[in-house]
Amino acid sequence: MCGIVGYVGPRQATDVLLRGLARLEYRGYDSAGVAILSGQELDVARRVGKLVNLSEAVRARPIVGGVGIGHTRWATHGRPTEANAHPHTDCLERIAVVHNGIIENYVALREELAQSGHVLRSETDTETVAHLVESYYEGNLATAVRKATKRLDGSYGLAVVHLDNPDSIVAARRDSPLIIGVGSGENIVASDIPAVLEYTRDVLSLEDGWVATVTADSVTVTDIDGKEVVPERMYVEWDLAAAEKCGYEDFMLKEIHEQPTAIRETLRGRMGDDGTIQLSELEMTPAEVAAIDRVFILACGTSYHAGVVAKTLIEQWARMPVEVDVSSEFRYRNPIVDDSTLVVAITQSGETADTLAGVREARDRGAKVISITNVVGSRVTRESDGVIYTHAGPEIGVAATKTFTAQIAALTVLALKLAQAKGALEQNRIERLWEELTHVPDVVEAILADTSELEECAAEYTNVHSSLFIGRGIGVAIAMEGALKLKEISYIHAEAYAAGEMKHGPIALITEEVPVVVVANQGHTYEKVVSNVQEVRARGARVIAVATHGDEDIRHHAEHVLYVPATSESMSAIPTTVPLQLLSYHIAKLRGCNVDQPRNLAKSVTVE
Ligand code: G6P
Repeated sequence: MCGIVGYVGPRQATDVLLRGLARLEYRGYDSAGVAILSGQELDVARRVGKLVNLSEAVRARPIVGGVGIGHTRWATHGRPTEANAHPHTDCLERIAVVHNGIIENYVALREELAQSGHVLRSETDTETVAHLVESYYEGNLATAVRKATKRLDGSYGLAVVHLDNPDSIVAARRDSPLIIGVGSGENIVASDIPAVLEYTRDVLSLEDGWVATVTADSVTVTDIDGKEVVPERMYVEWDLAAAEKCGYEDFMLKEIHEQPTAIRETLRGRMGDDGTIQLSELEMTPAEVAAIDRVFILACGTSYHAGVVAKTLIEQWARMPVEVDVSSEFRYRNPIVDDSTLVVAITQSGETADTLAGVREARDRGAKVISITNVVGSRVTRESDGVIYTHAGPEIGVAATKTFTAQIAALTVLALKLAQAKGALEQNRIERLWEELTHVPDVVEAILADTSELEECAAEYTNVHSSLFIGRGIGVAIAMEGALKLKEISYIHAEAYAAGEMKHGPIALITEEVPVVVVANQGHTYEKVVSNVQEVRARGARVIAVATHGDEDIRHHAEHVLYVPATSESMSAIPTTVPLQLLSYHIAKLRGCNVDQPRNLAKSVTVE
């Protein structure tokens, strides 16, 4: 969590930092700060709350200088106060540090530093880094940072400045993302690419343990022992417009509308001319695939719901048992996985701490791990045996939308691949399913073309306090995702249930005040779902149904019907998700919520 930016060059560093931090606010937004090398002093400004508070402070008292570091925080150690906001400084206030990650041994370090006379002024783990660098500094900042980072347990992306080095920033990373944007006569250090795109598309990526000294026209990188290394240089294909709102009111709405493209891109090139599903990322021979007897899916949050969809598809098509677990449970469960298990880790960010820990756990037990992620070069890609990318482009809204449907697209390809490799489905069935899958983006486009019914419906449910989401089969996973979207962005309590389970408890909650959202598209359990709808209606519930175009009967059982084009049941997950994303979006907007940055949440959860 947290976003960091550092700038060295001819521009006013404060401007570049604030613009960069604005593009990283999705990483955290409970406080923010900058430190600028301003002539003979280190000028620090920090504010609690959103970045706008810091921007106002800096507007009121401009800070001049061409070298600086900035931070937007998602608190892990210490409350979101000004004292705990980054940058943190050493005793003499000559060194400033911004940090993303967690220093696990910070308590011991604090004690050690205090005993040797350092005065620590915050409750954070990060401040120990500033004081450690101070204690090791003997004229060379990079050397002091290397020595300091050798003392750290845990994860860090760091940017450090020192008054004695007015022309440079030192950056270091381990287990937290950090890149360097290489400009012309200027360089920018950042947690993520959107912060540098306004200035350059040339990016260097740092490996774990590396330390970089960045000036306006040079980047020198060493490993943790001081041996010079050459970082990989990448050219970023997407431009700044891709990372901005493109005229939409919010990133979330833009990202909902980008789903047809995201799904198409994810499916591109996956069917070979010979009718074979192309998934070389599995890096397994047909014999190795045949030897797999079980699939274990690990994920958190929305990604977990994509895993629940995949369970149905893989079991149905490949006839292999699939278990789906939330990563935070899996890692502490003593799970039964071995070299005949294929573990699939789903994580849009590629940085979720619990999922990464689960991946390590699974590999230690001999399993082959394939990850599905949206972020090239993210942590999970380096820890997995194979990586399947969703090509959804950057997702800035904290609530996942296009990455979710792109994950389902990628998982559908995986399910088809496993079915093909196992010989569990006829080739012509595989080709028909593939054909249908390639039309899913058109189906989503059709749903997005007319959302008037949805907006009217949202207006009627703005003042609800609690709601239930139900479905059967794949519809359960979509109900879970619909409920999660509603609670995370509108703060309305929402709970998802398998429709058949309602009578075992949740139906007791039903009153006129508790609407029920039902995923009721056509499928082999459609009649059963309609019976469950009748049960809740008989008890006074207002019903919103997601149903298939042409199903007029459902109108007798629901106050509102959100129609989606007909698909086979197996392909229904993506189309039925879209109206629920939009329903939550419109309800949240009518309630005045900030849909892109819901309270207490962050896009990438790099803590346990
Ligand atoms: C956070 C995000 C969710 C996301 C979850 C898992 O909670 O707010 O949108 O689903 O993390 O993230 P991952 O990157 O592992 O998919």
